[in-house]
Amino acid sequence: MKFFIDTADLDEIKEANDLGVLDGVTTNPSLCAKIGVRDFEGHIAKICEMVAGDVSAEVVSTEYNEIVEEGRNIAKIADNVVVKVPLIKDGIKAIKTFSEEGIKTNCTLCFSPTQALIAAKAGATYISPFLGRLDDISTDGMQLIRDIVTIYDNYGYETEVLAASIRHPMHLLECAKEGADVATMPLSVIKSLLKHPLTDIGLDRFLADWDKLQKSLEE
Ligand code: E4P
Repeated sequence: MKFFIDTADLDEIKEANDLGVLDGVTTNPSLCAKIGVRDFEGHIAKICEMVAGDVSAEVVSTEYNEIVEEGRNIAKIADNVVVKVPLIKDGIKAIKTFSEEGIKTNCTLCFSPTQALIAAKAGATYISPFLGRLDDISTDGMQLIRDIVTIYDNYGYETEVLAASIRHPMHLLECAKEGADVATMPLSVIKSLLKHPLTDIGLDRFLADWDKLQKSLEE
């Protein structure tokens, strides 16, 4: 399973990348606005230099010709950039065009299995089902992941299932069990994957016992 970090914050990306388990980055307009990105292309270029894997950068156009023009410009930023396109009619058309041009895409804002099916048929590199936002409205986000994995397996689609809007470690665990190809998570969730109170208690005990042994040897 690939781990992506869901942020545009360079410090957070560096911290996750330093762990040595990061496979890519996803950004979106809200994440860019959160940290006040001024030079969008320059900022994405920096992220692409920092990490070896795929970096999603989202278009803000909603009309076919404009999405294609904006996406082609984004694709020039770096070899590892992925053009993120919303799951709307013109977005699907643009994804088909990008796929024919060899430009990688991340089809975003997916909330239903049929949307995911159309995105795969258009040749999206990644589909981003938004797990947490479905849970937020009392709908089973995990069922969407399960359905997409089943549909893609049934027909052998190569589009990778990129579980997005992940809010906590249990989301990640369920996605891993269901076979999602990628999970994109905030830094807080990546760090929480490491934590277990028994690990901390066990380590404290090991170190205390080692100290005791050293002291007894000095006597
Ligand atoms: C990633 O590609 C998505 O834009 C992101 O995971 C959305 O997460 P949110 O629902 O927490 O905003």
